[in-house]
Amino acid sequence: MTLEDSDFSFYVRATTHDDLGSVMSINEATLPENYPLFFYEDILEKYPNSFLVGCLNAGGSEKVVGYIMWRLERGISEFGVKIVKKGHLVSLAVLDAYRRNGIAAQMLAKGMHAIYAYGAREFVLEVRVSNVPAYNLYSNKFGFEKKKVIPQYYRDGEDANFMAANRLPPLVD
Ligand code: COA
Repeated sequence: MTLEDSDFSFYVRATTHDDLGSVMSINEATLPENYPLFFYEDILEKYPNSFLVGCLNAGGSEKVVGYIMWRLERGISEFGVKIVKKGHLVSLAVLDAYRRNGIAAQMLAKGMHAIYAYGAREFVLEVRVSNVPAYNLYSNKFGFEKKKVIPQYYRDGEDANFMAANRLPPLVD
């Protein structure tokens, strides 16, 4: 996308049920891990504040260009011997044409604060070992550490890097 027109802005807001069609289209265009509608509805019902969409407003009309969703889990801490609530990143994506505008970073920061508000004190995720853009996002900007490799985590046989963080990032706009 050429950002010559000054009449545009990117922002992040809570997802509504009406957004789920756009969210599913973005997911299907960007990731091989796809889900039925009820899966999104379930996450939206349980964790509405951390299910966010990234939007472009150009000339007064809004387009959903990205999304992030989390779920809450309880388990052994990635940073010590204790039981904690963890925010597990379920899925994050931005349409190709709108990348490198800071939309994922904005959604990740707001999403981490929102799942923290649900009780999460650590944040965990899996990312394909080949996914350099996402790995950089998590490690360079958000302090996620690689904890282990999960062999053949994905259906096509690719391994996942399992990453975790225990600090909230600053909120960015
Ligand atoms: N190469 C290297 N680093 C990259 C990158 C790339 N192509 N894209 C993002 N990053 C890193 C950089 O550190 C970047 O900061 P910088 O622009 O200041 O250098 C940082 O991430 C933030 O980038 P941002 O603009 O917020 O990311 P984005 O909106 O372009 O979205 C993804 C990043 C990963 C969500 C996007 O590439 C995407 O949707 N990919 C396909 C789906 C996917 O892989 N999801 C993650 C699954 S775990």
